[in-house]
Amino acid sequence: MSAFNEERVLSVHHWTDRLFTFTTTRDASLRFSNGHFTMIGLKVNGKPLLRAYSIVSANYEDHLEFLSIKVPDGPLTSRLQHIQPGDTIIVGRKPTGTLLTDYLLPGKRLFLLSTGTGLAPFMSIVRDPETYEKFAQVILVHGVRQVDELAYHDMLVEHLPAHEFLGEMVSSQLRYYPTVTREPYKHMGRVTDLMESGKMFEDLGIPPLDREQDRVMICGSPAMLKDLKHMLEGRGFVEGNTSKPGDFVIERAFAEQ
Ligand code: A2P
Repeated sequence: MSAFNEERVLSVHHWTDRLFTFTTTRDASLRFSNGHFTMIGLKVNGKPLLRAYSIVSANYEDHLEFLSIKVPDGPLTSRLQHIQPGDTIIVGRKPTGTLLTDYLLPGKRLFLLSTGTGLAPFMSIVRDPETYEKFAQVILVHGVRQVDELAYHDMLVEHLPAHEFLGEMVSSQLRYYPTVTREPYKHMGRVTDLMESGKMFEDLGIPPLDREQDRVMICGSPAMLKDLKHMLEGRGFVEGNTSKPGDFVIERAFAEQ
């Protein structure tokens, strides 16, 4: 059996000239956990051109959704950004990754820290009822350069709290903290600085980070991952992985493609 399925593009939404989202059909046999990534791409001159993408949609949905940047000379995204409904993309049959609540020790609060397209796996995790069974409070942080790069803002603020099945959990347990670095917004600054200074905790009206009860997932640019890992380790947090759960887990945002 091939390592890939061919899927049909169902919809495409361009957030900005640097960022877009698309949905595809989902092969009935594809299994994944919320937070996983898989290889996706296009056939170019008959050969698969693939990159790792976190799955935005939750694992109980019958379609797949992905969030992508557009790199003008990127081998894949220079082509992928032009896809239209009805086109075919290829999707790896073996999703994997470390951003699973299974790889975290039990805790009270779950911090989901993202920049740019690093938000993608967390969209799946915040739509997983199990997340709210495991953690009393979930704090989703998304840092971007410009306001219009706050992908899924309206879904997080309006649609999810009103969702038929998830609405109650989301309304009482999920906090969303969007922050912008390069234009005026209600929250401004880098995720790292807002945590170091304590401003984010003040704005949310919640106690500061506490290793005893807080767990953290991180997904974003390599520099952001490095800085946050350093910050957490400085506070005694231990990194988890697929074989040993820890206080925090990390995934690259797969951004440079
Ligand atoms: P900044 O505007 O100060 O560079 P990008 O679009 O380059 O992936 O960036 C997404 C967001 O991540 C931007 O707000 C950017 O802030 C921020 N960022 C970049 N590097 C870091 C870092 N080391 N730690 C935290 N945030 C970062």
